[in-house]
Amino acid sequence: MNASINLTKRLGIKYPLLLAPMAGVLTSAFSATVTNLGGLGSIPISHIDFTNANSIDQLDKLMSKYQVRDRSSVNLNFFCHEPVPEPTEVSIDNWKQLYRRVISDEDVVDRVRLFTPSKSFKEFETDEAALSRLLSCLDKFRPKVVSFHFGIPASSTIAKLHDLGILVFASATSLDEAVYLHKFEIDGIILQGFEAGGHRGNFLSDADVDEKLSTQSLFVQVRDHFKGEGPFLIPAGGIDDGAIVKYYIDNGAAAVQVGTAFLGVRESLTSPFFSNVGRSERRNTAMVDLVSGKFARTVRTPFIDALIDSAKKFPGELPGYGYRYNAYKELRGLNKGELDVGFYLAGQNYYSINPDLSIEEIVKNLTKDL
Ligand SMILES: Cc1cc2nc3c(=O)[nH]c(=O)nc-3n(C[C@H](O)[C@H](O)[C@H](O)COP(=O)(O)O)c2cc1C
Repeated sequence: MNASINLTKRLGIKYPLLLAPMAGVLTSAFSATVTNLGGLGSIPISHIDFTNANSIDQLDKLMSKYQVRDRSSVNLNFFCHEPVPEPTEVSIDNWKQLYRRVISDEDVVDRVRLFTPSKSFKEFETDEAALSRLLSCLDKFRPKVVSFHFGIPASSTIAKLHDLGILVFASATSLDEAVYLHKFEIDGIILQGFEAGGHRGNFLSDADVDEKLSTQSLFVQVRDHFKGEGPFLIPAGGIDDGAIVKYYIDNGAAAVQVGTAFLGVRESLTSPFFSNVGRSERRNTAMVDLVSGKFARTVRTPFIDALIDSAKKFPGELPGYGYRYNAYKELRGLNKGELDVGFYLAGQNYYSINPDLSIEEIVKNLTKDL
């Protein structure tokens, strides 16, 4: 059976179109709109700490705002990176030096205290209480899809998700990662090309040996490797038009995953920044790890440029992912200066965003050639 027909049937959706999970951008209502239009909405829940008992309420709240006919029509998305070592004093000091050259009010930098980690799914699955809390939440909602970025959980956890009837998806950025995911019985692979917005989900290769494959090269390599026998293949990155969607579906993709094309809609939490795209000066994007500790594609604002410049002048060890990101988030809250220190994650094609379009019009454009 054609891969996209097979997947849309399994998911009970009309179009092979997945809304990319986008932490800090999506609300439940935004995602529900995409599901109600025939795609599959997603709810990023990487910020919920399942070692904490109130995580159940947090998820309940998000799901209660997800107003669709069948609430199991959803992709719940987790980060699944390796636990990050605590930052050293030297790395914290380096971080402060880095930002002192960017933020004119040095006092703001000195007031940052929040060098705490973000918890990964890998920490939930090794904590008995957290895993049982998480599985009972999943049992309650029975999401059609649970997806992972930055790696995957243990085989035993994947088997538990399968026992609940959940399809497990994960991101890959290379053929090696796709082959690895298939060995662990991952049902759907998000093939994230280098042009994609947001954090790069690589988990096997470091940045220095990353081949930086485009979405199309990655898709063709992985498709030709599996020859139609492997998992569902879902390209993601730079997909912003019906003809591109048609190309992937006609050539064997089970669905596509789209993020950046939706950033300008008024329901997006970052829409104020993207509402001027097309009317203001075009900026490039860059892949940077300075803000969060992992590489992510973001718009090159004066803030990002200043940070890159500062790091060049004073390279040194910085706190790891999570610690670095949380410190930045605290700094962003404290900063009252004129410099916009927003971290606007977006793909290479962000400049083709038309902020006047509604979610419905974007879905229509993406699916018009199917
Ligand atoms: C603003 C933004 C936030 C993102 N956050 C997540 C996330 O929380 N989880 C995830 O798996 N992927 C995340 N991604 C990556 C997307 O899943 C996807 O790979 C990417 O959006 C596809 O490329 P495109 O942005 O060019 O459409 C994010 C992407 C963007 C643009």
